[in-house]
Amino acid sequence: MKEPGNDGQDYSNFSNNETFDSIIRQRFSRRSILKGAAAAAPLLILGGGAVPGSLKPAEAAAPLGFTPIAANRDDKVTVPPGYTANYLIGWGDPMFPGVDKLGLGASELDQTAGLQEVRFGYNADFIGYYPLPYGSNSSTNGVLVVNLEYTNPELMWYGWSLASQTQSQVATQIAAHGVAIVEVAKSGGRWSYRQSSPYNRRITGETPMMITGPAAGHDWLKTSGDPTGTKVNGTLNNCAAGSTPWGTVLTCEENFNQYFANRSMMSSSDPRTVIHARYGLPTGTDRGWEKYFSRFDLSKEPNECFRFGWVVEVDPYNPNSTPKKRTALGRMKHEAATSVVASTGQVVVYTGDDERFDYMYKFVTASQYVPGSPSANADMLDYGTLYVAKFHVNGTGSWLPLVHGQGPLTAANGFANQGSILINTRGAADLLGATKMDRPEDIETSPVSGKVYAVMTNNSNRTAAQIDAVNPRANNRFGHIIEISELGGNHAAIGFTWEMLLIAGNPTDPETYYAGFDKSKVTQISSPDNIAFGAGGNLWIATDGQPGSIQTNDALYVMPVDGPSRGHLQRFLTVPAEAETCGPEFTPDFETLFIAVQHPGEQTGSTIEAPLSKWPDNASPPRPSVIAVTKNGGGVIGS
Ligand code: FEO
Ligand code: CA
Ligand code: CA
Repeated sequence: MKEPGNDGQDYSNFSNNETFDSIIRQRFSRRSILKGAAAAAPLLILGGGAVPGSLKPAEAAAPLGFTPIAANRDDKVTVPPGYTANYLIGWGDPMFPGVDKLGLGASELDQTAGLQEVRFGYNADFIGYYPLPYGSNSSTNGVLVVNLEYTNPELMWYGWSLASQTQSQVATQIAAHGVAIVEVAKSGGRWSYRQSSPYNRRITGETPMMITGPAAGHDWLKTSGDPTGTKVNGTLNNCAAGSTPWGTVLTCEENFNQYFANRSMMSSSDPRTVIHARYGLPTGTDRGWEKYFSRFDLSKEPNECFRFGWVVEVDPYNPNSTPKKRTALGRMKHEAATSVVASTGQVVVYTGDDERFDYMYKFVTASQYVPGSPSANADMLDYGTLYVAKFHVNGTGSWLPLVHGQGPLTAANGFANQGSILINTRGAADLLGATKMDRPEDIETSPVSGKVYAVMTNNSNRTAAQIDAVNPRANNRFGHIIEISELGGNHAAIGFTWEMLLIAGNPTDPETYYAGFDKSKVTQISSPDNIAFGAGGNLWIATDGQPGSIQTNDALYVMPVDGPSRGHLQRFLTVPAEAETCGPEFTPDFETLFIAVQHPGEQTGSTIEAPLSKWPDNASPPRPSVIAVTKNGGGVIGS
């Protein structure tokens, strides 16, 4: 949570005031025509051995055979009969030899920045599984990369308040952010992590990293601490992420705005204030970090915030590598970054800007992927073209290039060079007239069909006058999922067709749509967020926000997207009270499902003194943690 709100400004220029009914009629009468156009696109199957990360080989359809579970508000993880969910690692667990676990209980909560730097951090989100050794397809030994999105200080310290927050508490929170990289192994059917593994690494809000690509060295990336504009300390609010074909992770900086303060103390004639407002940087304070760390104070360091909001590439196989902020992929509240190799050989990265009325993007590399040569691919994300999506009512769409000198993206309009466009990606996309979406969350590509699935989690601010074909509901409290087919099956194409896959909410509500499946046979879902493809190309959908929208715990659902069961949504797992379902990630054999249980107990008024969750220790504080789900006796998850 701590999710983005509207930044208070309305850049909307909606000309399309069609009603939901007329839009749905137009869209679905075209469906049979479009199906032919987009079908039969050849999918590039990567050759040359195993592919690290989440790019899984396509497999034949895998029928689902589990017993769906009921919605609930229990303070525990629930899985179907015949499955087991085991705790793997969570906040406060030691990641290096000689480090102690965080003590529980009021007198034993030993927290310092130094300790937090060697322990697992807070609010796990993305999970990536990278087989060991590199290049293998091992489903019993690998490196787990886990994003640590943000902190809940009210659930970390007794008596905490923003007003009384100490320097040590802020430094500890900075250390609890970032990424955890940890070796895991399965033995006797059960997963554990290796505290002494040489792969283990904690990346925090202070870890030195490089800024690369077209914006590196830009005047607006220079600070008193870094006059070169190429070096930055730390990564913050790492939400979802993605894996590259060469085995690195692209971790995404999402709601970075909340760490900065005092925009109102900047001169109103400073052109940077317009950009800071567009990105929702606080006029006053939010987290209070600026009180002890001046780089978070915009009145002292007006450029530091330009060094956040990027996609960061990290090599999980090399604990000594320097993470790189890849500016070519744009600056926004990046939710996720999903890589796929196009039929042209170029690498395409899909990413979304999770804000009400913001945009969907993709980046296409200039060069071609070289299988089996990590060094040849090492810096290919610094060169290429960033596009933003424009959806048309007739079921087609265009990728509009964000390239300096093209169209309105000129010095006369405030974009002096490509770096200026990338630093103010939102402003550039505004000028291009991109389609304003209902909070783009995760985007994934099907390893079976090559189609692209984009999740819009919700947008309660959209009015009836602001609906459009691809965001068809006013007061969209429940979210939807869009299915995109790139023209010719080429992910590098500049045109696409699209369908609505899911319009979430109560199936009895006529505005909901479950891919055409009989709605009397599906279960209710709301607030889709993270997605993953499981065995046979079934789509697994994790939620964030069901306690608020449909008064039930967040969950993980599965839904076939092809064949006669397309749209048959069923509930597989629920997380504890007030938690969000994150991850999800499968091992290459699909026999293990890793899930991150984020922010258990997070709710207004819920504090460490009286938390709404005591998971996983049946004690306070609750601890955000990663779990491993397996089928008893072995077998594919969901089968
Ligand atoms: Fe961190 Fe958009 O979820
Ligand atoms: Ca998310
Ligand atoms: Ca979320």
